[in-house]
Amino acid sequence: MQYTIGKVLDAATLDLQRRCPTGARNEAEILVGHVLGIRRADLYAGIDEPVAATQVARLDQMVAARCSGRPLQYITGVQGFRGLTLKVGPGVLVPRPETEMLVQRCLEILEGSDGPLVLDIGTGSGAIALSLATERPDCRVRATEISEDAFRWAGTNLRESGLTNVELHFGDLFSPLPRLEKGKFDLVVSNPPYLSQDVWMNAPAEVREHEPQLALLAGDEGMRTCVKIIDEGAGWLASGGHLVMETAGLEQWENLSMWFGKQFEDVRITDDLAGRPRFVEGRKP
Ligand SMILES: C[S@@+](CC[C@H](N)C(=O)[O-])C[C@H]1O[C@@H](n2cnc3c(N)ncnc32)[C@H](O)[C@@H]1O
Repeated sequence: MQYTIGKVLDAATLDLQRRCPTGARNEAEILVGHVLGIRRADLYAGIDEPVAATQVARLDQMVAARCSGRPLQYITGVQGFRGLTLKVGPGVLVPRPETEMLVQRCLEILEGSDGPLVLDIGTGSGAIALSLATERPDCRVRATEISEDAFRWAGTNLRESGLTNVELHFGDLFSPLPRLEKGKFDLVVSNPPYLSQDVWMNAPAEVREHEPQLALLAGDEGMRTCVKIIDEGAGWLASGGHLVMETAGLEQWENLSMWFGKQFEDVRITDDLAGRPRFVEGRKP
C-alpha cells in the first residue's frame, strides 16, 4: 500500500481521537510534521506526497506513546516558548503558555532599567531565564534549579541558545548563588511548584504520571516554596527591585498577599491568558 501524507494524517487522527477527541487533528499534524521534518503549514501543500514505510512505523510508535498518555512535547522533544524552541523530556516540566505572560510582566517591570541583574528560581527547561536573556540582551540572568534532570535540560537549552548572559546554578532556591550578589538583584522571578496535595491528586493523569512531582507539588497547601521565596527573596533584591511569581491563583491570593505585605510594597496580582488572577508581584522598599 502506498502511504501519502493525507492518508497517514487521517489514520493518526483516528487513533488519537481515542485519547483526545478535541485536539486529535492538531496533534496528528504536529506528529506527522515532526516525523517528516516539515512545517505543519507545508503538510497540506504536499498532501499527496508519498511517505516511506520507516516513517510510517515511527509515526505509529509516536501515536501509540501519545495514546498511552505520554505528553506530546516529550514525544516530539520540543516546546515553543516566546519564539524559542526549548528541548524538553522526562524530568522537566513542559513550559506552559501562561508562563509566557509572566515573562511579559517581567519585561514591563524591567522597562527603563539598564543592564539589570535578574534571577529565575526553579528554571526547569530555562524557559523564563532564556526568554528574558533573549528579549533583553542587556540583562545579566542567573537561574537556579534543584532537580538534576531539569538542570541538564536547562544546560542543553542554554548551550543551544548560544546566549552568554545567563548563568545556571545547581541547588536549593538561593543557596547556590554567589554571596556577593546578595542585595543586588533588580528582579527575582519564579514559577515555583505551587500545587496542594489535593489539587495534585486531581490533576490529569498525563501530568501526574509523566511530569515531575518536584516541579508541581509543594507542601503547606502548595505554599511552602512560594513562602520561602518571598521570605528570602527580599534579601537578594536591591532596594526598588521586584519579586514576581506565578501562583495557583485566587485560592492562594489572600495568604500570599499577607506574606508579600511583610516585606514588599505595591503588592498586586495580574491575570493569566484565561483572565484568572495568577501572577503576584511586589517591590522592595
Ligand atoms: C513549576 S516548575 C517551573 C519550571 C520553569 N521555570 C517553567 O516555568 O517552565 C518549578 C521548577 O522549580 C524547581 N524547584 C522545585 N523546588 C526547588 C528548589 N527548592 N530550588 C530550586 N528549584 C526548585 C523544579 O525542579 C522545577 O523545575
